[in-house]
Amino acid sequence: MTAPQAACLHAALEIGYHLLDQGASALIATEQVIRVLEQSGLFNAGKGANRQLDGVRRMDASIMEGQALRAGAVASIEGIVHPITAARLVMEETHHVLLAGPMATAFARHFKLEGQRSGAQNRRLSYDTILKRKQSRRDQHGTVGAVALDRSGTVAAGASTGGIDQMLPGRVGDTPLIGCGVYADNESGAVSMTGIGEGIIRVAVAKEICNRLALGKSPVAAAQAVLKKLETRINGTAGALVLAPDGRFAIRHVTPRMAAGWWDGKGTPTVGDQFQ
Ligand code: GLY
Repeated sequence: MTAPQAACLHAALEIGYHLLDQGASALIATEQVIRVLEQSGLFNAGKGANRQLDGVRRMDASIMEGQALRAGAVASIEGIVHPITAARLVMEETHHVLLAGPMATAFARHFKLEGQRSGAQNRRLSYDTILKRKQSRRDQHGTVGAVALDRSGTVAAGASTGGIDQMLPGRVGDTPLIGCGVYADNESGAVSMTGIGEGIIRVAVAKEICNRLALGKSPVAAAQAVLKKLETRINGTAGALVLAPDGRFAIRHVTPRMAAGWWDGKGTPTVGDQFQ
């Protein structure tokens, strides 16, 4: 993790905690923390989102709250800085859970969300050209996410991403899929995932971790068990933020590193890139 990334995580944790301390909902704290990370351009989300092999930046995001199990998501959205806010608006302003592609972008524009260049001028590349293209590999996948618990006892989880390296145009990962990249239920807990989405989808990791929390497993035990299943069954790689409704939490990963942090308002936020 770079020093600017660490400073950004630190600032995001402070903003999230202070919102909760002032009585904001877990949903709003989660959204606002993710907006800081999207805005920074330092992670693979928002201004820093990866481009697909045709050079176009298509992003995914989702958010969920655990009291009424409300959720919203966008997939393959283009040309905005804050997909997480588009996801919240899907949740709050429509009776749907997921909007995708150009109509997700049109929805975000209707609500006047801040724009950014998407690289859409590249989209006419032929498929033969796209299939031959290779991008230089990035060091870290860097999907951003957050989980939070508010004073009412409600948990929330969210995530936002530009996807992974070497993505075909139109590829969608785990992040906008409720139960895969994100889940939140006051009767079990909140989970936000980072890592290679293809594996996370096949194991439905976020819901699988919540199911174990509901059976009484600790956040550490639930995260470890499901990440081990992901690794051993399908050679997947991922990291998880897990928060129980009683405040216990875990940050666990089966990647070499995962930039993350936490704060309960005491002392200063803890930020690191190895949590084992
Ligand atoms: N976890 C992010 C993605 O696979 O798109």
